[in-house]
Amino acid sequence: MNLKTVSPKNKIDTYDVEKIRRDFPVLLQKVHGQKLCYLDNAATTQKPRSVIDAVSRYYETINSNVHRGVHSLSEMATQAYEDSRTTVKNFINAASEKEIIFTRGTTEAINLVAHSYGKINLKEGDEVLITNMEHHSNIVPWQLICEEKNAKLKVVPVNNDGELIFEEFEKQLNERTKIVSVVYVSNSLGTINPVKKIIDKAHSFGIPVLLDGAQAIQHLKIDVQELDCDFFAFSGHKIYGPTGIGVLYGREKLLESMPPYMGGGDMISKVTFEKTTYNELPHKFEAGTPHISGAIGLAEALRYINKIGIKKISAYEKEILNYAASSLLQVNGLKVIGQAKEKSSVISFVFDNIHPHDVGTFLDFEGIAVRTGHHCTQPLMDRFNIPATTRASFALYNTKEEVDILVNGLKKVLEVFN
Ligand code: ALA
Repeated sequence: MNLKTVSPKNKIDTYDVEKIRRDFPVLLQKVHGQKLCYLDNAATTQKPRSVIDAVSRYYETINSNVHRGVHSLSEMATQAYEDSRTTVKNFINAASEKEIIFTRGTTEAINLVAHSYGKINLKEGDEVLITNMEHHSNIVPWQLICEEKNAKLKVVPVNNDGELIFEEFEKQLNERTKIVSVVYVSNSLGTINPVKKIIDKAHSFGIPVLLDGAQAIQHLKIDVQELDCDFFAFSGHKIYGPTGIGVLYGREKLLESMPPYMGGGDMISKVTFEKTTYNELPHKFEAGTPHISGAIGLAEALRYINKIGIKKISAYEKEILNYAASSLLQVNGLKVIGQAKEKSSVISFVFDNIHPHDVGTFLDFEGIAVRTGHHCTQPLMDRFNIPATTRASFALYNTKEEVDILVNGLKKVLEVFN
């Protein structure tokens, strides 16, 4: 057994997890007759009542299209949609609303940058630098644009603990590198990358950095100005908001220089058959009717987080992660994949003779939801010579009791499969 544990710092006394749990209707359900133990938060988080209500309220009271009508409902919907943008701006401390583009999620945000930034900045022989622990959504968009431009996709390796090898990152930076695109927190391993160091180093070469923040936004305090990142992508559904809404933060100057990603309504200034001119930021990148209720729901989710406090949430989740790391030591033969010194809310593990899908299916009958598979990180699985893991991922409403339920479930798995 090679699990490392860290003794909990910053013990939280005032965090009322039972009160928080009551805000999430889904958590009251039973699955297969068992109390639901939801540990698949890296895939998607559950929604608090206030988010569900905000979305319903929108449809019940002001549903209308935005930026298009002079009637009252349209004006109210536009106001609510644009207020949501301001809430996002404040949450990540962007300098301006112009830097907040609503997208369908992290995937669309990264595709937008790959295709728009890549279109004007990549040429034959140029390089895009990513890491071995990227989600497919931070690999494939870059492969697509690199193929189109005859550019090269370069990959920074990770060590046996699942940490990025910083010296290798430094070595791979050169004058051909046109962008660095890196995950902040690994969805498969939970590794927290040293993004500030990465950004500072890349900037010393004049290279912009995109952070895939899909697994960071809900766990860590994000201040894009302090990080000094050039792009930051995240999804609403990973931070207790609706599915189908996400955000691309982009530095205003860069976004200004980039061509539109999609064409359509709302992103134009003037259209003629001869020539079209484009709307100003952020609308230049929001073609078509946006996910209005999604943006409103996301803003409500961010207000929910603000009420508790992201720093408190971080500290509580760290305590749960540490408790899980030490509790899983009781499970014979369980091997943790990813032992980074800096980790957040994810534990991935394997057993020598039991396939993760069998583990996940068995746990489901105990009411425990975990994700099994390659977690959309096949190159990372290849790095560890495994096809898949079982992944437990934690959120602000998980408890130590649920960690105990997971441990007992895994002990039963061993009894049945060995
Ligand atoms: N990217 C999500 C996950 O890690 C879906 O499960």
